[in-house]
Amino acid sequence: MTFFSNPVVRTLAVLAVVGVGAIASWAVLDTAFHATGDYEFCTSCHGYEPIAAAYREDTHGGNNPMGFRAACNDCHLPHDNSLHYFWVKARHGIVDPTMSLLTKPEDIDWHGIRERREEFVYDSACLNCHKYLQEASEGNRKAFRGHRRYFKDPDDYSCVECHEHVGHNRLGYHLEEMGWHKSEGEKE
Ligand code: HEC
Ligand code: HEC
Ligand code: HEC
Ligand code: HEC
Repeated sequence: MTFFSNPVVRTLAVLAVVGVGAIASWAVLDTAFHATGDYEFCTSCHGYEPIAAAYREDTHGGNNPMGFRAACNDCHLPHDNSLHYFWVKARHGIVDPTMSLLTKPEDIDWHGIRERREEFVYDSACLNCHKYLQEASEGNRKAFRGHRRYFKDPDDYSCVECHEHVGHNRLGYHLEEMGWHKSEGEKE
């Protein structure tokens, strides 16, 4: 029996090749993301839609006097470690386009998806920009009061549990206006 005819060795070899392939395709995807720019890539689908309209209406979407704009991935990718970051990025690069081929946007239960917001908006992302909240003191009431409990037990809360609609102003309204109904969940 040669080395490669051993079924265990063969399985391991196949897994190794698949693994390298997956990493390579991630790398290609990642390059593609950067080449097109996250915003351009994401809005190629989420562009002329309620989601982008609500985003442009929000502080984070450029509706502020400084002209600052947070990228989609600034909130929708985790910033805790690079493996997690890469994994979620690849998921948006594979699952999202697949779903968009299989369904029409008006048939997707967007209201239902919003109720899972804690699964696709990451505290580590928010804190990447709002890290000074942690150092806020009584002198800055707005920053201090709401977050005292959070920083005591970060695992018990999430940013979007309280800031549910941050990033997309009046998303519920924009979805309704576009006729993307579905689900009798929250609407605002
Ligand atoms: C400041 C953080 C932030 C930024 C920046 C941001 N989002 Fe969001 N996103 C959220 C939050 C929070 C929700 C849930 C909003 C709600 O339920 O009202 C959400 C919801 C979504 C949803 C689900 C919408 C639905 O109706 O089910 C999609 C898709 C989405 N965002 C895509 C994007 C895209 C594309 C961009 C860039 C153009 C972007 N987001 C920028 C925080 C953000
Ligand atoms: C090819 C079209 C397409 C592209 C490109 C795309 N999306 Fe999506 N996205 C979709 C569709 C369709 C859904 C609904 C999927 C479903 O039914 O779960 C979705 C769902 C989402 C959701 C909410 C659901 C979840 O579980 O995550 C977020 C957040 C999101 N996209 C963000 C992004 C971001 C950020 C980018 C850019 C990195 C992006 N999308 C690129 C089509 C796309
Ligand atoms: C790319 C940087 C960046 C990211 C990521 C980001 N923010 Fe912000 N955020 C800002 C800036 C800049 C402002 C406007 C100045 C200010 O009020 O501090 C702001 C304003 C806010 C405000 C007050 C004003 C308003 O319109 O709501 C809240 C609340 C907020 N952010 C929460 C969040 C939450 C929650 C997340 C994560 C889902 C998040 N931010 C992600 C940069 C960011
Ligand atoms: C338990 C609810 C709760 C949680 C969890 C929470 N916040 Fe807040 N946040 C508040 C309240 C309340 C305010 C004050 C709002 C006001 O008075 O306008 C606030 C205000 C803010 C502001 C504006 C501060 C200022 O100086 O004006 C930012 C930015 C912000 N939160 C970001 C975040 C981020 C990022 C997270 C997650 C790390 C988070 N919040 C988690 C309740 C919460």
